[in-house]
Amino acid sequence: MASHDLPSIGLLGLGTMGANLALNIAEKGFRLAVYNRTHSVTVKFHKGAGELAGQLTPTATLEEFVASIKPPRNIILMVPAGPIVDAQIEALRPLLAKDDMIIDAGNANFDDTNRRAEAARDSIEMFLGIGVSGGEVGARNGPSIMGGGDRPAWDRMAPVLEAISAKFEGQPCATYMGEAGAGHYVKMVHNGIEYADMQMIAEVYGLMRDGFGMAAGDIGDVFDTWNKGPLQSYLIEISAEVAKATDAKTGKPMLDVILDSAGQKGTGRWTAIEALHRASPVTAIDAAVAARNLSSRVGERKTGEGIFGSAPQSINREELSLDVLEQALLAGKVACYAQGFAMLDSASDDYGWKLPLPQIAEVWREGCIIRSAMLDDMATALKHDPDSNMMFADAFADRMKSTHNGLRKVIAVAATNGMPVPALSAALSYFDSMRTSRGTANMIQGQRDYFGAHSFGRLDEEGAHHGPWALGTI
Ligand code: 6PG
Repeated sequence: MASHDLPSIGLLGLGTMGANLALNIAEKGFRLAVYNRTHSVTVKFHKGAGELAGQLTPTATLEEFVASIKPPRNIILMVPAGPIVDAQIEALRPLLAKDDMIIDAGNANFDDTNRRAEAARDSIEMFLGIGVSGGEVGARNGPSIMGGGDRPAWDRMAPVLEAISAKFEGQPCATYMGEAGAGHYVKMVHNGIEYADMQMIAEVYGLMRDGFGMAAGDIGDVFDTWNKGPLQSYLIEISAEVAKATDAKTGKPMLDVILDSAGQKGTGRWTAIEALHRASPVTAIDAAVAARNLSSRVGERKTGEGIFGSAPQSINREELSLDVLEQALLAGKVACYAQGFAMLDSASDDYGWKLPLPQIAEVWREGCIIRSAMLDDMATALKHDPDSNMMFADAFADRMKSTHNGLRKVIAVAATNGMPVPALSAALSYFDSMRTSRGTANMIQGQRDYFGAHSFGRLDEEGAHHGPWALGTI
């Protein structure tokens, strides 16, 4: 093939996400070379590509892969995050020419992306770190894409990324977030919100299952109904599907045979750790990460139930209605997103990224896992005032006013019945803290000054002060 006929895009890593992304790129009219470390995977993928096979150049070695791409090359890495990305960059580097570009489309830690972007500045190649959300269906049909790196690198890839991305009312869900690790940072916070949203839905499911004694299918119907209202979202939609599915082996509801032990690859935990570092509270996300950790302690929880007995777990429908559960989820969701956006706002200043908060809400409106009807209103609120807490924006303040008592009621009833609702509780405590102008940290300051002479501020006077307990005073 003459060099000018070669594709200028290559995709390395044909796992589920890579294979689907490659087909999506091919379908949008771009030709691309593909490579997987295990060649049989490449062969199988190419055979299964059907009418798109002609758009794809399968290659057997890394050298053949690079030689099959026309310079300046755009090489998309779709390999597991972590050391494999570094190893792959190292292996590619000697084969690359000036202005070739590596695009890491995995779920990389933003710190790693910062480091790789820095290293690329001293090398001949360009580097982009892009967060891609939407799971395998999103990768195939249109994911949400959050880009980070040098602006010219993004501009070069933008036509491809915009073409393959999801569209919201015709607008591509692919946006440049800022330098270096900015795209992976935004994707990390997306995943933190994803964890909290999923956990809150699971908590409400638990109240319906154990509190109301509802069958999984009926719970699915409730989610279906909610999905037609203000809770409309991909996560509610799939929760309905999951709840209504039947296990082929036993004929039971699928949910009833799934072990209650949740896995995690780490992105939610990264969000919680990073938020702690920057003193930006994301309490619903923290609670969701902890709940996943607790869920994996199946044996210990059995021991606990043996010692303490299971909680009463029976809620009178008169005491709590499905409408109140819906309100609780709405309030919890607003508080959780407010935390996520506040964290992005603080990172934006500290890392100097100038993260485009309204555009982040926009890029999440379609394609990604946390897409929901609410995000459009969030984009509007952030355009109006990007620096204010989301709960204070008119539309969301009204929503919190009309739903926080529902959330309160749900938590009170759950606590009385011994049913854990950690993420919903964390969301409510956050809301209550954020509307309490005089909190209780005066006691903390008194304690700190007492044992460590750390000093405190006074309500009636500027400066640093000590209490009467200060050494020599008492
Ligand atoms: C997405 C998802 C995706 C993946 C995460 C979840 O936006 O498409 O977030 O990235 O599902 O890896 O990971 P956990 O295994 O941590 O739940």
